[in-house]
Amino acid sequence: MANSLGSATGNPRNKVSLKPGHSLMDWIRLGNSGVDLTGTGGVLLEVTKEQLAKHKSIDDAWICLRGKVYNITKYLDYHPGGVEALMEGAGTDATTLFNQVHSWVNFESILNKCVVGRMVAAVDSDIFASPPKPGPVKHESAIKLDWSQQSKSVTFYLYLKEPLAQLSITNIPDDDELWVLANGIWIGWSLLLPLKWPPSINLPTNDMQKVEIKLDKVIEDGGPKMWQEVPKQLPLPAEEKKIDSFLPCNVVSIFQINHNVYTITLEFLDKIYRYVPVGHHVALQASLKGQIITRNYTPITNLLHQPSFPTGITFMVKSYSNGIFSSWLTTRKVGDILKISEPCGTFSVSYINETVTHLILIAAGTGFTPMVRIINWALQPHKRINVKLLFFNKSEKDIIWKRELSHLMGKNSRFVVEYVLSEANSCWKGKRGYITPQLLETVLPVYMKCIPFPYFVCVCGPSSFTQLAERYLQDMDYPTSNYYCFRG
Ligand SMILES: Cc1cc2nc3c(=O)[nH]c(=O)nc-3n(C[C@H](O)[C@H](O)[C@H](O)COP(=O)(O)OP(=O)(O)OC[C@H]3O[C@@H](n4cnc5c(N)ncnc54)[C@H](O)[C@@H]3O)c2cc1C
Ligand code: HEM
Repeated sequence: MANSLGSATGNPRNKVSLKPGHSLMDWIRLGNSGVDLTGTGGVLLEVTKEQLAKHKSIDDAWICLRGKVYNITKYLDYHPGGVEALMEGAGTDATTLFNQVHSWVNFESILNKCVVGRMVAAVDSDIFASPPKPGPVKHESAIKLDWSQQSKSVTFYLYLKEPLAQLSITNIPDDDELWVLANGIWIGWSLLLPLKWPPSINLPTNDMQKVEIKLDKVIEDGGPKMWQEVPKQLPLPAEEKKIDSFLPCNVVSIFQINHNVYTITLEFLDKIYRYVPVGHHVALQASLKGQIITRNYTPITNLLHQPSFPTGITFMVKSYSNGIFSSWLTTRKVGDILKISEPCGTFSVSYINETVTHLILIAAGTGFTPMVRIINWALQPHKRINVKLLFFNKSEKDIIWKRELSHLMGKNSRFVVEYVLSEANSCWKGKRGYITPQLLETVLPVYMKCIPFPYFVCVCGPSSFTQLAERYLQDMDYPTSNYYCFRG
C-alpha cells in the first residue's frame, strides 16, 4: 500500500532519483510539444470501471482521480515517487490512495494533457440475469428496492449503496411501465394502473442514500383504489436499454433577470426526468442556420423557494450580443424546442467532507451558476457548514440575483455574500478591483497542515480568473483536497 512506500506525512521521504531529462520542467515541455499524451487522439471517452481495469500495464496505464480518467503511461518516468508507486493506482480509481500519499499535489495541472475522459457507471448485468421477483428485492451489490401506496399515490424507494451519481426516470414507451436508471443500474416496474406524470422526487440527503419517487394515481369513477398486488419488477429487455444522449425538450419558462442574464426552464418532451448532480453541467444543442451548435450550461435551483416545474431543468444564461448560441437561447419563447445532453462533470459534493465547516465560493460573472446548487446543498438544515460567497462582477448592474442573495443572507445566518466590483461607480461602498492574493487573504485563513483543515474553496469564472485564483491558492499552500476549480 501507498503508506508503506513512505509519504510526506512524516514517514521517511521516498522520492526516487529520476532519469536525466525527466524533471517537472521536462514534463511540462513534453506536454507543450504537441505529443498526444492521451493515447486517444484527444477524443474524450466515457470510461467504465471494467474498461479502466484493462489499462494497468507499464506501457498502457490509466488512472482515475476525482472522477476523471488520465493516461499516465508517459508520466510514469517523471513521477517523483517512482514508477512502482504510481503503478499501484494504475487501472483503478486511486483518489483515496492519492490523497493518503500527497493530497497537496496538483495532479489536475500535471496531467492536464493526459485526460482520457470521465468515469461512468456500467450496467451491472448480473443483477438482471434471472427475472427479479416481485416485491422488495435486495441486490447485495447495488440497490435495495421497496414501494408503498396510499389511496391516491404510489411511492417507489431506492436505497443506494453509493452516493447518487445518476438518476433518470421514464414512464415511456408504455404508461404501464416505469423505468429508473440509477447509478448505472436499470430497474423497471410494471404498473397495475397508470400513474400521473410528473413524479415528485425526494433525493438523498448526505446521510441516507434513499431516493423516493412518488406518482399520483389516476382517479377513476368510483374514487381512489388501493392496488391489490405488488407492482412486478420487469426483467431487462434482451437488448440493452438505451436513452439517447441528446433528448428533445421544450422551453417552459423564460425570464430576464438583469440587463443581459436570463433564467430558462426546459422540460423533456417525453415523460422523462433526469437528475443533474450538484456542480455538473449539460450540453444544450440546436440547429442554427443549418449548423448543429452545442454549448454547456450549468443547471441552477431556486435559492428561496420550491421550483414550479418539478421535472424541469433551469439555467441561468448570459446573452452575448455576438454569441451564436446564447443570443439565440435567450430569445426563445415558451414552447420552442431544443436538445439537452446527459449530465457531465467531475465535481462531487463528497469532496466537501465532514471536517469542513467553512465553504468559500469564489465566483465571477456567470461562474456563479455552479455555486447556486452548492449553496443550497451546504445550507441544508442538518449540515453545519458556513458559506461565504465572494462574487466578482464589473458593475453593480451585472450582479446576478443581488436581491435573492440579500434575502438569503437575512434568512440564514450561515450564509454571507460579499461583492467585488472592477468598474464600480463612486457610490459603491463595497470591495473594488480584481482578484488578488491580498483580497483572497481577507476571506481565507492561512493553511494549517497539522489539523483537519475545516475550509473548502470552490472557484468558477472565466478561465483567466480561475487560473489566477488557483495560482494564489497554491501560493497559500492550499492542497488540492481543499479546493475545486470548475473549468470548461
Ligand atoms: C462547463 C461549462 C458550464 C457553463 N455554464 C454556463 C452557464 O450556466 N451559463 C452561461 O451563461 N454560460 C455558461 N457557460 C458558457 C457557455 O457554454 C457558452 O460558452 C456561452 O453561452 C457563449 O456561447 P455563445 O455561442 O453565445 O458564444 P460564442 O459564439 O461561442 O462566442 C462569441 C463571443 O461571445 C463572447 N463570449 C462567449 N463566451 C464568453 C465568456 N465566457 N466570457 C466572455 N465573453 C464570452 C466573446 O466575445 C466571444 O468571442 C458554460 C461553459 C462551460 C464550459
Ligand atoms: C495514486 C498513486 C500514487 C502513489 C502511490 C504515489 C506515491 C508517491 C510517493 C511514495 C511519493 C514520494 C513521497 C514523498 O514525497 O515523500 C510521491 C511523490 C510525488 N508524486 Fe506521487 N503517487 C501517486 C500518484 C501520483 C500522481 C497521479 C501524481 C501527479 C500527476 C503524482 C505526483 C507526485 C509528485 C509531484 C510527488 C512529489 C511530491 C513532493 O515533493 O511533495 N503522484 N508519490
